[in-house]
Amino acid sequence: MRKKVSIVGSGNVGATAAHWIASKELADVVLIDIVEGVPQGKALDLLEAMPIEKRDSHVIGTNDYADTSNSDIVIITAGIPRKPGMSRDDLLNTNYKIMQDVVGKVVQHSPNSIIVVVSNPLDAMAQAAYKISKFSKNRVIGMAGVLDSARFRAFIAEELKVSVENVTAFVLGGHGDTMVPLPRYSTVAGIPITELIAKDKLDALVQRTANGGAEIVKYLKTGSAYYAPSAATAEMVEAILKDKKKILPCAAYLEGEYGIKGYFVGVPCKLGSRGLEQIIEIKLTPEEQAALNKSAESVKELCAVIGV
Ligand code: LAC
Repeated sequence: MRKKVSIVGSGNVGATAAHWIASKELADVVLIDIVEGVPQGKALDLLEAMPIEKRDSHVIGTNDYADTSNSDIVIITAGIPRKPGMSRDDLLNTNYKIMQDVVGKVVQHSPNSIIVVVSNPLDAMAQAAYKISKFSKNRVIGMAGVLDSARFRAFIAEELKVSVENVTAFVLGGHGDTMVPLPRYSTVAGIPITELIAKDKLDALVQRTANGGAEIVKYLKTGSAYYAPSAATAEMVEAILKDKKKILPCAAYLEGEYGIKGYFVGVPCKLGSRGLEQIIEIKLTPEEQAALNKSAESVKELCAVIGV
């Protein structure tokens, strides 16, 4: 049977995620939004691209949650994006209200789905989705680390003039200014990047990664990044639908792992057909652990504001 992925929010991230998922023929896609016409128009446009792409993914747009019924995965991108000068945290209250409405409907129509949260501030919105849905923790996962580490990988590949395929990178922590890129666990063809890039240069790449979202917002002025965020989401969807057991950095609900309890924070996760199948614990240096704790603290503060 064909898999079904619904995407809540037909803005740039949602529509571009639909594009990646349909063009990889991962599933049939339902694009849903409260705005009338936009999901229908974008979905039809994408459907009409399928003969050219030689893909049989079926794509529809709708304003009615009944059309999303029994989705295998629901991606939540709904919410407002940031504008120049705003942090992801400035979106907190508005996007929490949207999340309350959306998650209730997702649970009602797709009670067995896996929810992938993309809306910002990411970790707090994942926490909200987890609490509202009452799904088990393996079925609520936040997209952030794949994006943040892709940015780090792109910068490393540019710096060393090597294929992006040779570069693996790990970024842990919350999706915010306190994220924790881990050069020690980042490699080029198996060689730690700490052997290949001088410390000051590496520090600059780490800094650029942490500011990666803001760098794009500054250019775009009217919104935030969407090609890389949606590609990152599609990679998670592929790992789940194909039961790949792929290890990717994702925001997961921690219950003592890394010494953190009761919050979503970015950690290495194994994704497969059951969603989040395992949290991989790696040994951190005291500095790395301190940075992760700081990141978790800022997630905690945001969760306290909205009471989740
Ligand atoms: C970014 C936004 C989407 O990092 O959080 O670009």
